[in-house]
Amino acid sequence: MITNLKNHNTLGVDSICDGLHSFSSVETLETLIDTLNRPISEFKVIGGGSNVILAPRIEKVFLQSSDQSIRLIDEHSDKVWIEVGAGVNWHQFVLHCAQQHWHGLENLALIPGSVGASPVQNIGAYGVEVCEKIHSVNIYDMSKRCQQTLPADACQFSYRNSIFKTPAARNWVITSVIFELDRQFSPVLRYGPLCQLDTSTLDANMLIDQVVDIRSAKLPDPRVLGNVGSFFHNPIVSTSQCIELQSKHPTLPHYRVDDQHDKLAAGWLIDQAGWRGYRENGVGVHSEQALVLVNYDATSCDAILALSQRIVADIQEKYGILLHREPEYVA
Ligand code: EPU
Repeated sequence: MITNLKNHNTLGVDSICDGLHSFSSVETLETLIDTLNRPISEFKVIGGGSNVILAPRIEKVFLQSSDQSIRLIDEHSDKVWIEVGAGVNWHQFVLHCAQQHWHGLENLALIPGSVGASPVQNIGAYGVEVCEKIHSVNIYDMSKRCQQTLPADACQFSYRNSIFKTPAARNWVITSVIFELDRQFSPVLRYGPLCQLDTSTLDANMLIDQVVDIRSAKLPDPRVLGNVGSFFHNPIVSTSQCIELQSKHPTLPHYRVDDQHDKLAAGWLIDQAGWRGYRENGVGVHSEQALVLVNYDATSCDAILALSQRIVADIQEKYGILLHREPEYVA
């Protein structure tokens, strides 16, 4: 049945597809695939729709997990293992963990989207990446019609990337994620504003509140202003290129990746190039964080893609750096 995914993507654009179906278990997923009877390449999984740019017409059927389960599957004196259904809202899961005294995900509070989507782009914020807390990922392979558990070290996690973004995962559906969390609260406070927190009184809920405050000040709420979070990856460049850029731009923020590479802040580059707060054709660059493109009132993704291409060309011209889009374009 023809469906508009406008309310299922945080950019809030119109996107007509051939149907949206939810599944709560592997059994219901298998039944759906049989009943719908379409080539596997015509199925597309969607989570919270917070990291996708949807074309105006997509000749596919969308599948969405509605599995809301959160199960403690094992525990030791200092660790717990929790299996979480792909359909659980990410932020609700982070809050639930704090309530249960399961620790390690506090810095990832308020990231939009679902648990099932979290390993795909290896969500990260304020010094923590989700891969550090993932034990394994359960998938269903639609072509082989079987379930499989991928241990974290088979997931090829790296900065905003994983095996789930590669062709190998084309026919996979993430059904649940198993997290390995700590019983003891040991906060990661490396990121700028978090460094100032008083560790003697800090607890998990206070850290979550701080993260929520920082995010709310810088990043637009997708329920109010359409966006997909950071629109570009932070570029990783050779240390020699970084030094050369620094000589021209002494305030350039950069973070050491390894002996030969540094990560730059794409938001800084876009901001310095003068784009922050820019607006055209119903879309724009967020006024508090230039790495986020926002949708004021555009009805299709075309305007945002056109703006992003102009930004990419400008940053290439001004700094010699090619920015790469972070959210997935689905056509
Ligand atoms: N900056 C500017 N102007 C801007 C934006 C940033 O000068 O408009 C500067 C900041 O002052 C800072 C540096 O750039 O010196 C980095 O900015 P920030 O700390 O805000 O983080 P980011 O590198 O822009 C990344 C993630 C965010 C995550 C934050 C905090 C990526 C692509 N983005 O942004 O993730 O919340 O760090 O850890 O890695 C997301 O992926 O959707 C996302 C929001």
